[in-house]
Amino acid sequence: MKMDKVAGSGNDEFYTPRYAIDPILKYVPNDATVWCPFDTEESNFVKMLKERGNTVVATHLQSGQDFFETYIDCDYIISNPPYSIKADVLDRLFTLDKPFAMLIGVVGLFESQRRFEMFRDNPFEIMYLNRRVAYFKDYADEKPSLNPPFSSVYLCSKVLPERIVFEEITKR
Ligand SMILES: C[S@@+](CC[C@H](N)C(=O)[O-])C[C@H]1O[C@@H](n2cnc3c(N)ncnc32)[C@H](O)[C@@H]1O
Repeated sequence: MKMDKVAGSGNDEFYTPRYAIDPILKYVPNDATVWCPFDTEESNFVKMLKERGNTVVATHLQSGQDFFETYIDCDYIISNPPYSIKADVLDRLFTLDKPFAMLIGVVGLFESQRRFEMFRDNPFEIMYLNRRVAYFKDYADEKPSLNPPFSSVYLCSKVLPERIVFEEITKR
């Protein structure tokens, strides 16, 4: 099932709760410059990284900054990308050759010849989480209400110390 269908709105508008961002932060130095390429200032990635001292550049279609036509000089690229175009997103990230971490649905991740070749030919790591992540459909919502029937993982490159890392999340 496609993540955009899971979100129920037929698009990629579902937003990450703070508890799902906690586990990646310890792998990102707090003096690093981070590009969040699918994020507005409302994004919890942007807020949490700024709160711990990171310099953050948020770009988004909404401000006329298409990821595929934008380049920000940075140390890390971190976000939850639009899943409907995840292969194109990962392709560009590997081409940019910057450390990155993308929160992404694990189901079907390896199931295409294109992605098979991408993962075979590029350095990557995966962070597995102990619980499924639920997402907000609006930043103003009090609780995340979009519950995909599969796990989300952080697909990373040059961020995690090992190929597979296990982290626990605490929903709040
Ligand atoms: C899954 S949402 C996640 C939003 C945010 N990163 C978060 O975690 O709360 C992905 C966002 O990427 C935006 N988007 C889709 N295509 C894009 C593109 N080509 N360039 C920049 N943003 C894009 C969508 O409008 C959507 O808001």
